[in-house]
Amino acid sequence: MAAGLNQPLETYQDEIYLSGLGGDKPILPANLSALEDLARQRMTAESFDYICGGAGSEDSVRENAAAFRRWRIVPRMLTDVSAADYSSTVLGTELAAPIMLGPVGVLKLAHPEGEVAVAKAAAAASVPMILSTSASCTIEDVAKANGDGQRWFQLYWPKDRDLAASLLRRARTAGFGVLVLTLDTRLLGWRPRDLDRAFLPFLRGIGNQNYFSDPVFVAGLPGQAADHQDAAILRWAELFGDASITWEDLPFLRDHWDGPIVLKGIQSPGDAKRAADAGMDGIVVSNHGGRQVDGGIAALDALPPITAAVGSALTVLFDSGIRSGADVLKALALGARAVLIARPYVYALALAGEDGVRHVLRALRQEFELTMQLSGYASLAELGQDALIRVR
Ligand SMILES: Cc1cc2nc3c(=O)[nH]c(=O)nc-3n(C[C@H](O)[C@H](O)[C@H](O)COP(=O)(O)O)c2cc1C
Repeated sequence: MAAGLNQPLETYQDEIYLSGLGGDKPILPANLSALEDLARQRMTAESFDYICGGAGSEDSVRENAAAFRRWRIVPRMLTDVSAADYSSTVLGTELAAPIMLGPVGVLKLAHPEGEVAVAKAAAAASVPMILSTSASCTIEDVAKANGDGQRWFQLYWPKDRDLAASLLRRARTAGFGVLVLTLDTRLLGWRPRDLDRAFLPFLRGIGNQNYFSDPVFVAGLPGQAADHQDAAILRWAELFGDASITWEDLPFLRDHWDGPIVLKGIQSPGDAKRAADAGMDGIVVSNHGGRQVDGGIAALDALPPITAAVGSALTVLFDSGIRSGADVLKALALGARAVLIARPYVYALALAGEDGVRHVLRALRQEFELTMQLSGYASLAELGQDALIRVR
């Protein structure tokens, strides 16, 4: 049996209180929303703003959070939750709890070990991770750090098809089981915080490591990327993101990836149906944490009509705004099979490295499990939209 299944419920709460008897306190707050302020105090302003920031007025970032407040949980009483089990299998990946680490690039902005630290924490907590194309550590280094952990690879589709194929080949060889194609970032959104500082990490050589280490990419340079940094960055800028990609291009992925394929960034039932028609295995309902389209729909508001349209045809995952166990329960009740956590683990990485990420994973899992039990649900299958009411 692979790591993750048949694990007992998380016991982080007991562990914290018992350790307190010896005078120990947890390294980071139990309320994961508090991480943002702590990170703001400790990180450089440009790194913090890159992670925290959103597109335009940041209206969509705020809406992502507000949408969760519009749904309230209605706990039910006197059901047997003593042997609760929230494990599931999603696209062949075994989840002890329906939580994964979403793809976030340029993590060396947060911590010198970057994605490698996240990969170690993910393996230690038996939580699958999704590695970004725009990582600041290579596919191979992350796979090594992740060991027996379960991992998925996220692709930003580059302009050069040979480079795309090469990235996919490397990911498959390094044991990444599921491909996640991100659709919402073929171009970079208008991000005032970064624009005001004229700060884009990729132009400083952070977050292009999967390009710089790629044989197809390097073949277009006069030599190794490390010896030709300026040329490598320029070439990265030429190749990153292909705004001409359409639904008709998706078969290319099937030809170059023999595992499940998930489309990330779907926000309408129409696009979700097209994903199903295109033979995709899953989607992530997401607005990229409000970083791309200012004024865009809150990701949670997009979820119910999408699950109504394709929930039985496709595996529906969710991100954008998950900050607590209650948020996880709400997204699942509205039809998601699992959620991706993103900014909170990046703040924790900045504050406490690998241990910080592990704290976030354990805290989120335990808070989710307790919220499920306290609301009267012993399994994921029991949970449906009737667990919630919409209050405004
Ligand atoms: C700093 C940063 C970098 C990100 N990089 C990527 C990426 O490389 N690939 C990707 O698919 N999504 C990326 N995302 C989007 C996340 O996967 C996720 O959709 C989003 O952060 C969810 O919003 P939340 O963190 O507010 O919950 C990034 C998000 C942030 C904050």
